[in-house]
Amino acid sequence: MQIRAFGRSDLGRVRESNEDNMVIECPPLPPVGLFVVADGVGGHKHGEIASKMFVDGVQERLRASADAFARYRLDCDREMRDELLHLLEKVVDQAGCSIYKASQDHAQLQGMCTTGVVVVMVDQGVFIAHAGDSRAYLVRGDQTYQLTEDHTLANRFLKDGLINREDLPNFPFTNVLTRSFGSSPHIDIDTLFVQTEAGDRFILCSDGLHNYIEGEELLTMSKGCADGRQFVEQLISAANERGGEDNITVALVEVTSQEEAKAPTVDLNRQIIFLRSLFLFREFNDQELLRVMRIIYTERRARGDVIIKEGTEGNELYILIEGQVDVTLEGEHLVTLGPGAHFGELALIDNTTRSASVSARTEATLLTIVRADFNRLIYEDQVLAVKLLWSFLQNVGGRVRELSIEVKNLNQQLAGFRTFMNRT
Ligand code: CMP
Repeated sequence: MQIRAFGRSDLGRVRESNEDNMVIECPPLPPVGLFVVADGVGGHKHGEIASKMFVDGVQERLRASADAFARYRLDCDREMRDELLHLLEKVVDQAGCSIYKASQDHAQLQGMCTTGVVVVMVDQGVFIAHAGDSRAYLVRGDQTYQLTEDHTLANRFLKDGLINREDLPNFPFTNVLTRSFGSSPHIDIDTLFVQTEAGDRFILCSDGLHNYIEGEELLTMSKGCADGRQFVEQLISAANERGGEDNITVALVEVTSQEEAKAPTVDLNRQIIFLRSLFLFREFNDQELLRVMRIIYTERRARGDVIIKEGTEGNELYILIEGQVDVTLEGEHLVTLGPGAHFGELALIDNTTRSASVSARTEATLLTIVRADFNRLIYEDQVLAVKLLWSFLQNVGGRVRELSIEVKNLNQQLAGFRTFMNRT
């Protein structure tokens, strides 16, 4: 795998000092590359100290953990991927905690904090951690994916439906962050893993860029400029031409070549399209789907495999991608499910044992979500939780209705049978 990286931090046209900081560490891969952008908050240059402490702290700690990341290969199991996501979360959290401590120990540093987006690049994948409103984007083919979600009051209000996009220019608290490193000893950190592909461009930036350029325009500009270094300069120039009211920092990582994936890969766009086609996730936006994808794992089952056994404890929800499964109860066939169907959700919701057995009628490919991850997702994001639980409810409601019709038909058949027996 080969990568190339470029980056620059610019003062902008209004600010007197640059409170952004970044790290670009781009050795031949494997082992690991590290890219960080941080945007400090706090007057009198203290924001600059916070962002510098963050990038240095992450870099130092990640160097100590580089071996763990270097072991990652695409065919690694999900435990290893989870372990590395947790390791990254811990490293980033410790860097934030040091900022908090410094702000407590030195009166003049009180209140300093910083945003931070961290990308650790390994063989055929990136691990991402972030809090605040600096962003990571992926430009792949004809799509741009915003991989991080802004932790700002404006975004919170948007998600809660209290304001809409048109209200944003007049929203009075655009600068207020709901999460930042250093604001308290520990904060919630979002993490994500994305499989890389040759041709990918990962863009990390502070809000000095994305306040002026985002989404579609980022894609158009990327397509119009093959040279990475020039692309970074064009982005910074465009932000300055439109006002440059804040410091502008851009780090660009390009995956120039990559060996054929050893494990089966599903293109990110196809995964998003597929997940959105599912009843369960149809209300989700791209970022919410990316969060779901973090906790989803693919597994293959052979024909005849018992996936769920009635009466046993259930810890997983399954979504069928390919093949068919039979749902049975005490040996009686209830229904055959095909691609797009999900099963195993009941035990996740009411915490009891499995209500039926499910076995693979044909060879089957499944997406699996483990209960603990599912619960975390729901507790972390209430908007997402409401969407998910609403879909579940509609689905279960549909099943109850189908069952009622079946019971009614059975009752009619039974009544007919009784009449027949009484006559004979
Ligand atoms: P759970 O009880 O967790 O495990 C067995 C699963 O089979 C159950 O969740 C449902 O997802 C699924 N299931 C049970 N009964 C039916 C049915 N009548 N139609 C479709 N799916 C069902």
